[in-house]
Amino acid sequence: MERKPYFIQISDTHLFADPGARLWRVAPEPRLDAVVERLREIAPDPEFVIVTGDCSADGTPASYERLHEKIARLSSKAYYLPGNHDDAPFMARLLADRALAQFEKFTQTFDACGWRFILLDSSVAGEDGGCIGNEQREWLRAQLARDGQIPVVIAVHHNPLPVGSAWLDTMTISDAPALLAILDTSPNVKLVLFGHVHQEFEAHRGQTIYASAPSTFFQFKPHAKQFGADDLRADGARVVTIGDDALAGRVVRVGPI
Ligand SMILES: [Fe+2]
Repeated sequence: MERKPYFIQISDTHLFADPGARLWRVAPEPRLDAVVERLREIAPDPEFVIVTGDCSADGTPASYERLHEKIARLSSKAYYLPGNHDDAPFMARLLADRALAQFEKFTQTFDACGWRFILLDSSVAGEDGGCIGNEQREWLRAQLARDGQIPVVIAVHHNPLPVGSAWLDTMTISDAPALLAILDTSPNVKLVLFGHVHQEFEAHRGQTIYASAPSTFFQFKPHAKQFGADDLRADGARVVTIGDDALAGRVVRVGPI
């Protein structure tokens, strides 16, 4: 049977220069390794990988370089977008060979399998919350107006919709209403992928699906008032199968739960 093409969303890898360094008492790197090896077994040869931010925990060159080596075990085509723990200009230079001007957002777009992928930069240096900004919204409008019929996937680090956890929902995208106003009136936007929330989330808004990937190393408790670990769910990633005019996503977990 012919296999439909698919891509993988990896998120919130939080690597350090020191492979044994810990965050919230967990070393992110061996956890990422386990997720990558499992994905090589169950989702081999994806079309590409999108890493939706918080790639590094310390912003060091070594952390990005090792992340890139590990993601290359999944696919030679990988796209990285910045999260609140990342250094966007540095990432753009190292991972996309692009020099950003001061305050320029690290925006990316590419076409694959009959779909357009638009990667936004919601990071704001020194802040946990995100912002898209006027300039990037204008850029997004222009991208969506190009070949208006082609179906579109958007990816961004911060959650554009609240996920029902009070502490997380205070650090979303500050100008989310303006972003959603664009997405709500763009019927070709079928899927909006994000990270940041370290948990699986999926919601429909109009004709668009909003979905997150779990973190590769640490899960946040869903529907929580305060920060807390989710001990019930294992690390994971999202695998998205690409159809002619629809996508089907599933979360893959690594571990006994
Ligand atoms: Fe994160």
